[in-house]
Amino acid sequence: MNDHDKAKLAQPRPVCESISEMTEIVLPNDANPLNALLGGRLMHWIDMAGAMAAHRHSRTYVVTASIDHMDFLVPVRVGDFVVLRSSVNRVFRTSMEVGVKVWVENYRAEESHHVSSAYLTFVAIDAAGNKVTVSPVVPETEDEKRRYEDAARRREIRRKESERRNGVRS
Ligand SMILES: CC(C)(COP(=O)(O)OP(=O)(O)OC[C@H]1O[C@@H](n2cnc3c(N)ncnc32)[C@H](O)[C@@H]1OP(=O)(O)O)[C@@H](O)C(=O)NCCC(=O)NCCS
Repeated sequence: MNDHDKAKLAQPRPVCESISEMTEIVLPNDANPLNALLGGRLMHWIDMAGAMAAHRHSRTYVVTASIDHMDFLVPVRVGDFVVLRSSVNRVFRTSMEVGVKVWVENYRAEESHHVSSAYLTFVAIDAAGNKVTVSPVVPETEDEKRRYEDAARRREIRRKESERRNGVRS
């Protein structure tokens, strides 16, 4: 990669360039014997949707470092559509927080419900697996600015929680 390409990659980019949307139809293989979507399958889709936003922003490889606490608010049934929307909330140095919001759509009943929201942290790496610095993300809308501020608070909570688990005093 030449210096011009490197400089281009390092440029700040608006949140909107990372926005990704993914839709899945729930099939019997995604469900338990009561035809309800498996939580693990939904977590997999959330990871994929989050990675898309992280790739779009960082334009490099990423690994999932963590997924915050998640609730599943309503059951999702076989035949429903699951819609996942993701975007980068904030970049730190080599890591970035991505938010994923999930809805279920039932086209027969013309209903749409919020299923879950998740915050994931992805770390950018190069082809050799070395961590790389991610270009800054620029929040533009009021919602993006709120998520940007909240992401810093969540990172601090994660740090304290990690220290507590590992027995380190802050
Ligand atoms: C994630 C990983 C790259 C971090 O590597 P590391 O050498 O421990 O990282 P560092 O302590 O130098 O931290 C690097 C960045 O990751 C962040 N980070 C590390 N662990 C984290 C965690 N559990 N949650 C959130 N962020 C984390 C750090 O805050 C730091 O961010 P910054 O550069 O933006 O300040 C490494 O643990 C890894 O490769 N894990 C496996 C990832 C994987 O395979 N995921 C798929 C699921 S199994």
